[in-house]
Amino acid sequence: MSKTVLVVYHSQSGNTEAAAQAVASGVRSVEDVEPVVKRACDADADDLRTCDAVCLGTPDYFSYMAGMLKDFFDRTFYPTQGQVDDKPCGIFVTHGGGGKASESMEKICQSFRFKRVVPTVLVQGKPDARAEAQLRELGVALAKAVL
Ligand SMILES: Cc1cc2nc3c(=O)[nH]c(=O)nc-3n(C[C@H](O)[C@H](O)[C@H](O)COP(=O)(O)O)c2cc1C
Repeated sequence: MSKTVLVVYHSQSGNTEAAAQAVASGVRSVEDVEPVVKRACDADADDLRTCDAVCLGTPDYFSYMAGMLKDFFDRTFYPTQGQVDDKPCGIFVTHGGGGKASESMEKICQSFRFKRVVPTVLVQGKPDARAEAQLRELGVALAKAVL
């Protein structure tokens, strides 16, 4: 059975959604690994428990993660405690020139006890070709981490 990388994101104007799709295409390029792409509002604790790795994406809103990502973390923290330790994890953030939201994401991923296998990918605005390549690499790295 294929391994899965869960890609959870929020996006209001499309930049982070495009980034999530680029991560997913990287995951898909690795044999025997499939992406499961979900908006944060549609993802739950079961998604987090059953995936083999997780990639979390947010826009930078007021130097913090989007409220929907925070809501996802708030809903899934207690139900997954002790069941997601050391799960391979990646983070991507789109921003308008700041990007400080990465700090809040990294801190929460520590609380969940995920294992960060790649550095956070920061993207200004809509991903261009260079950013898309970085995001695909993020997906490839996570996919390889579960094989
Ligand atoms: C309410 C709001 C607050 C924002 N605050 C910041 C910020 O503090 N720092 C920053 O770099 N960009 C900020 N931005 C810009 C967004 O992070 C950026 O446009 C992002 O790529 C939007 O992602 P999306 O298209 O997936 O919604 C803000 C945008 C909005 C709508």
